[in-house]
Amino acid sequence: MVSRVIPVDPFDLVVFGGTGDLARRKILPALFRRFCSGQMEGGSRVIGAARSDLSADDYRKMVAEAIAEFNTSTTCEAGTIEAFLSQVDYVHIDAMGEEGWQTLADMMKPGKIRAYYFSVAPSLFGPLAERLQAHGMADGESRIVVEKPFGRDLETARTLNDTLAKYFHESQIYRIDHYLGKETVQNLMAVRFGNMLFEPLWNAQYVDHIQITVAETVGVGGRGEYYDRSGAMRDMVQNHIMQLLCLIAMEPPAKFDPDAVRDEKLKVIRALNEVTPTDIVRGQYARGEGDSDYRDDVENPKATSESFIALRVGISNWRWAGTPFYLRTGKKLKARSSEIAVIFKETPHSIFGPEAGRHRNILTIRLQPNEGMDLDVTIKEPGPGGMRLIDVPLDMTFAEALGPDGEDVPDAYERLIMDVIRGNQTLFMRGDEVEAAWAWTDPIIQGWEKRGDRPVSYEPGTSGPEDALELIHHDGRRWREIRT
Ligand code: BG6
Repeated sequence: MVSRVIPVDPFDLVVFGGTGDLARRKILPALFRRFCSGQMEGGSRVIGAARSDLSADDYRKMVAEAIAEFNTSTTCEAGTIEAFLSQVDYVHIDAMGEEGWQTLADMMKPGKIRAYYFSVAPSLFGPLAERLQAHGMADGESRIVVEKPFGRDLETARTLNDTLAKYFHESQIYRIDHYLGKETVQNLMAVRFGNMLFEPLWNAQYVDHIQITVAETVGVGGRGEYYDRSGAMRDMVQNHIMQLLCLIAMEPPAKFDPDAVRDEKLKVIRALNEVTPTDIVRGQYARGEGDSDYRDDVENPKATSESFIALRVGISNWRWAGTPFYLRTGKKLKARSSEIAVIFKETPHSIFGPEAGRHRNILTIRLQPNEGMDLDVTIKEPGPGGMRLIDVPLDMTFAEALGPDGEDVPDAYERLIMDVIRGNQTLFMRGDEVEAAWAWTDPIIQGWEKRGDRPVSYEPGTSGPEDALELIHHDGRRWREIRT
């Protein structure tokens, strides 16, 4: 089954921070793949904008190198890069000053969709928005895309929202959470709301608990300074994991429409229970063999931020009261593996007697790697010898199910950027959602600061601190194994 490519109108996409890490790793390769799929026709252009004094040709060279290094897709034909580069331009611009703005204004062509990607520090969002307006580049149809971190607490997020609102309407602001662009994450909605099978069981009566795990093998790499100011709570939980939780827990929206979906997500965030210190375990990775530890990596021997967090939270509404959600994320763990597992309750009575053992259905949504879903069902173990039961997975790996010979599943950025061009905000966070997420997160972080809580240490290459195992064992449950 070859995926259908839906044409988009011609656009000019200006990437502020066009020479930065995110642009090189994600945005430019994603645009290249969309180009290969025929979604940059009719004179669409990518215009890099950054402080470096580069010529357009120097920039194209940098773009070609970035694509050679970071494009993992095999679907682009050899030689396509030259054609793509002919649609790439560059402007040397000063975000805080006046240099380059008139040049950019002169480059923008009328009659095309205008999108401005702010792949820069949040302190530049305001100055960029202001200058786009001042130079007449922002009409009612233009869109801005802003990257995380969107604030570091409720107050800073509010200030950012207020600043952007001075220049752009909420319907023009696309706050990216790349987890919402992942194929499986959207499939979560398709599975929940496109099938009769799951929704009647999707509540506290039938679901014992839910686990969300985002495990990484990498450390904090070259992002130590940013990470030390954030920790896993701000870097992963407040945004990516919160979004996954919302999609799992929300009520069915009346339609698949941006505000209908985001209204339901907001209700989930507002219904989250407060968590107490006993609901949370924080960790920092220790030194591996011949390796650095967390504090070395963030270059702060006194760092109190966490590279791992596990927490238990409840949702106070009719659907979920009594079903705990266990959330966990960390760096330098034993495998790169992200999944959501819905663990159903056992049958109320086993007709097969105690020797058949205890069994339950588990629906696992694998975000990465091997995007797909498993549903563990209980069957009879084949062969004679009575009624012995085993759990076997009904496996749907998306690459196998949907593509010829494992066709590439599009990257989150490809989908999200094209949604910006189409003007579809369903997979982007609304301002009030982001604020509600901070309103839940803030007291937790403030509590750590007030009490002087310190993360515990964990060995790299493991599942995280022992205390995190205790957190769930205490409730008579077990984490799912972290494995690829
Ligand atoms: C980013 C975080 O938003 O997401 C990183 O800042 C993290 O710390 C990354 O590594 C994980 O994204 P993915 O798509 O690789 O799971």
